[in-house]
Amino acid sequence: METALSKTPQQRQVVFLTMLLLLWEADSEAIRYSMPEETESGYLVANLAKDLGLRVGELATRGARIHHRGNKELLQLDAETGNLLLRGKPDREVLCGVTDPCVLHFQLILENPVQFFQTDLQITDINDHAPEFPHREMLLKIPENAQPGTVFPLKAAQDSDIGSNAVQNYTVNPNLHFHVVTQSRTDGSKYPELVLDKALDREEQPELTLTLTAVDGGSPPRSGTTTVHIEVVDINDNAPQFVQSLYEVQVPENSPLNALIVTVSARDLDVGPYGNIAYSLFQGGGVSQPFVIDEVTGEIRLSKQLDFETVRYYNVEIAATDGGGLSGKCTVSVQVLDVNDNAPELTISTLTSPIPENSPEAVVVVFSVFDLDSGDNGRMVCSIQNEFPFLLKSAFENYYTLVTEGALDRESSAEYNITITVTDMGTPRLTTQHTITVQVSDVNDNAPAFTQTSYTLFVQENNSPALHIGTISATDSDSGSNAQITYSLLPPYDPQLALSSLVSINANNGQLFALRALDYEALQAFEFHVGATDQGSPALSSQALVRVLVLDANDNAPFVLYPLQNASAPCTELLPRAAEPGYLVTKVVAVDRDSGQNAWLSFQLLKATEPGLFSVWAHNGEVRTSRLLSERDAPKHRLLLLVKDNGDPPRSASVTLHVLLVDGFSQPYLPLPEVARDPAQDEDLLTLYLVIALASVSSLFLLSVLLFVGVRLCRRARAASLGGCSVPEGHFPGHLVDVSGAGTLSRSYQYEVCLTGDSGTTDFKFLKPIIPNSLVPDTYMLNS
Ligand SMILES: *[C@@H]1O[C@H](CO)[C@@H](O)[C@H](O)[C@H]1NC(C)=O
Ligand SMILES: *[C@@H]1O[C@H](CO)[C@@H](O)[C@H](O)[C@H]1NC(C)=O
Ligand SMILES: *[C@@H]1O[C@H](CO)[C@@H](O)[C@H](O)[C@H]1NC(C)=O
Repeated sequence: METALSKTPQQRQVVFLTMLLLLWEADSEAIRYSMPEETESGYLVANLAKDLGLRVGELATRGARIHHRGNKELLQLDAETGNLLLRGKPDREVLCGVTDPCVLHFQLILENPVQFFQTDLQITDINDHAPEFPHREMLLKIPENAQPGTVFPLKAAQDSDIGSNAVQNYTVNPNLHFHVVTQSRTDGSKYPELVLDKALDREEQPELTLTLTAVDGGSPPRSGTTTVHIEVVDINDNAPQFVQSLYEVQVPENSPLNALIVTVSARDLDVGPYGNIAYSLFQGGGVSQPFVIDEVTGEIRLSKQLDFETVRYYNVEIAATDGGGLSGKCTVSVQVLDVNDNAPELTISTLTSPIPENSPEAVVVVFSVFDLDSGDNGRMVCSIQNEFPFLLKSAFENYYTLVTEGALDRESSAEYNITITVTDMGTPRLTTQHTITVQVSDVNDNAPAFTQTSYTLFVQENNSPALHIGTISATDSDSGSNAQITYSLLPPYDPQLALSSLVSINANNGQLFALRALDYEALQAFEFHVGATDQGSPALSSQALVRVLVLDANDNAPFVLYPLQNASAPCTELLPRAAEPGYLVTKVVAVDRDSGQNAWLSFQLLKATEPGLFSVWAHNGEVRTSRLLSERDAPKHRLLLLVKDNGDPPRSASVTLHVLLVDGFSQPYLPLPEVARDPAQDEDLLTLYLVIALASVSSLFLLSVLLFVGVRLCRRARAASLGGCSVPEGHFPGHLVDVSGAGTLSRSYQYEVCLTGDSGTTDFKFLKPIIPNSLVPDTYMLNS
């Protein structure tokens, strides 16, 4: 019992009372002991000898032993003292688990006599375990639309202790949304339930973390905690919403295909598929819209070319739909901007061509212009080339007329290529050009015009009949039959002129023909008019003067006037023997009916009885002695002279001259041959008159030249003082010299006066015109 003394008084009391009860039912009733778990090994549970009323030592002698029937050998018996000691440290949770009460049964066996004593050992629980949750963390998914009051059971915490030492209460940290209710199962165990107090909103708070605490009923109480993660599960409670409800954009009509118009954007507060937005077009109004939208990015692009002229506004409805089927809408208002992409168009309504010339102000073209663009891009300006005699007139709105500025002249321009240019005022400017050809029809307003006002034709005399002597030509600037010309000969003014026997004309081409051979010596020149008539209605005509000059041919040989060659008695010249050398014996006078070179005569001594005695001057035909005469010279001499003209080929005539040498006679008394006298006397008188007339005319001419020069100088002095300048012209008055009806001498003629003879026998031979090498076309010679 010494071990019992070490116990507290309360413990000893309990043990004693129990022992009393056990003893009361000795042999039949079991002896029961009780002790808390976790008691240290060696603990004295009880003194069995004393409790069983046996003597000390009796246990040892009777071979007492403890039989653990299937139990762990927890107890050890000290047979000498009868103390029952604890062997090992009992753990109620290991020995009994949840069984309550936890009682260990064992038997005390005694021999001599054999006695059995039943002994029970109850092990009581102490709060040596804290509640423990199966996991340190819990995950709870709660849809956001869960109603307040909804209960969510949670996993319970485990506590190996039993009874009041087990879990008694669950708590959660204070929060807005939940509280915990502790529920009891039928076996008395407790479990927690989470109760929703306030509705959740994932969009506001997608997850919560709670700390769940389990408390047991021990003293002091123990607790365990776990973290509860609450994930608020999304439901599709938000429709997609566009950032802007109206997008306004302006797009030039010439934007390229696939050009980005605008990017729309919508938001959905939900997540996952409920937050996935797909954009789409609402095709409305039956108008197929030229836009496509990217389902994912919301980019709206052009799928067709825009045309301001067709559609100016588009209202496009855009929908954004999430995975849950909710959708939002917005409007994209697209304004198409005009771009100057249409060139003006020009339509010719009326074109009058050809238009007759000479018609006053006529409408040639009526046309209209049109531009599909609007504003400045559609305003137009029309123009034509400046240099044309046409005017553009605005007729009505976009209608214009092109009128002639006045009468047209087909002859100056028969055709106009008029380019009508229409330009709009857009940027850049677009231009349309249209070229129309306006023909001007002919009116017979032009008479034929000769290429020259007068024609001078030259015909060599002795021509062959029907010789083509020249061509006249006229032109008519009209066209067609208005320009078809017929040539004709007009009746001559001079009724004497038998024109129709002289020339003929080809009516079609104006060729003139000489009808018969012409003779210069008979007809040196003639003139007539030709006419040209066109075929117009009425016909117009004009005329020109034609002068025909007959050219001389060397068809006449020189004719010797003196000495006469056909005289029966040949002419004989007397020569005094005392004559000095160079004495003029005689002068041969000859004429040529031709003119010009053909009438230039030269003289030549062909043959003489005494060569070297006489010489002939080649140009004037004077025959002179070339040396002194002597007694030995024969009294009679015969000279043969040749008179030759300068024609090609030259023609010539020969002259035979007889000279008689005489002694000592004076010329005045010399009887002259009868035949030679008469003409010499006549010519002497004529020569005198002519010389006087020529002298007076020459002095008159000189005087008038001086006068003329004087006047000119005066004028020039005056003109010079006025600053002008004029050059004096050597203008000779016409018809100044008119000699023996041989012709009119104008300034372009030279004249040559050939005088024959010396002081005694001076013969006027001839005065003739020398026709210059080139004839001035204006001049012609009158019939002499
Ligand atoms: C559980 O604990 C809470 C908070 O400590 C308390 O208010 C409540 O009364 C307790 N319940 C029980 C059954 O002990
Ligand atoms: C007008 O144009 C036509 C055709 O291009 C051309 O043959 C003609 O010569 C032109 N006329 C004028 C007067 O330029
Ligand atoms: C000589 O000829 C001239 C001119 O031809 C003529 O006038 C004259 O009568 C003629 N004399 C003789 C004698 O034949």
